[in-house]
Amino acid sequence: MAKAIHLVYISLSGNTQSFVKRLKVYLETKTDLPVKTLNVKDLVKEQNDFFAMSDYFVAFLPTYLEGGNGLDTGDVEILTTPLREFIAYADNYRYCYGIVGSGNKNFNHQYCLTAKQYAQQFGFPVLDNFELRGLADDVERIGEKVLALYRS
Ligand SMILES: Cc1cc2nc3c(=O)[nH]c(=O)nc-3n(C[C@H](O)[C@H](O)[C@H](O)COP(=O)(O)O)c2cc1C
Repeated sequence: MAKAIHLVYISLSGNTQSFVKRLKVYLETKTDLPVKTLNVKDLVKEQNDFFAMSDYFVAFLPTYLEGGNGLDTGDVEILTTPLREFIAYADNYRYCYGIVGSGNKNFNHQYCLTAKQYAQQFGFPVLDNFELRGLADDVERIGEKVLALYRS
């Protein structure tokens, strides 16, 4: 049985942070497990802030790509690489149930592309996606998926 639900994310302009905070509130109404959140932006790898996870977590990743169209160009991640590094650090990916991507559908083929790249690199699934801050429906749907993972 898990000791806690861990939601590990990165957020540059606050949308993913807002979603994760609302998700935490939702989960806390549904389970007795403590819900812990971590914004990897607050960790500095060079200062040895990174650590090995010893409990399962779900990752949340907004999409920031360098220009392009997501087809033949524009698949290079910018700004969110600390999350990739944290997941790679000490093989933390082994504890990752999966990743939830977020972005803006105006980016067409680049919508949530980086979450798909992480899934391919680390071998865990893309669990779901939401746009910008996400709607109440997104919080509930993704919350139920997270609960199912921690119950299994
Ligand atoms: C410079 C920049 C590049 C972005 N590139 C993409 C993209 O390629 N695909 C996408 O779906 N969203 C893209 N977005 C939208 C962000 O993923 C979206 O605003 C997200 O909610 C930001 O999350 P955050 O506020 O937690 O940082 C981009 C936003 C910015 C500012």
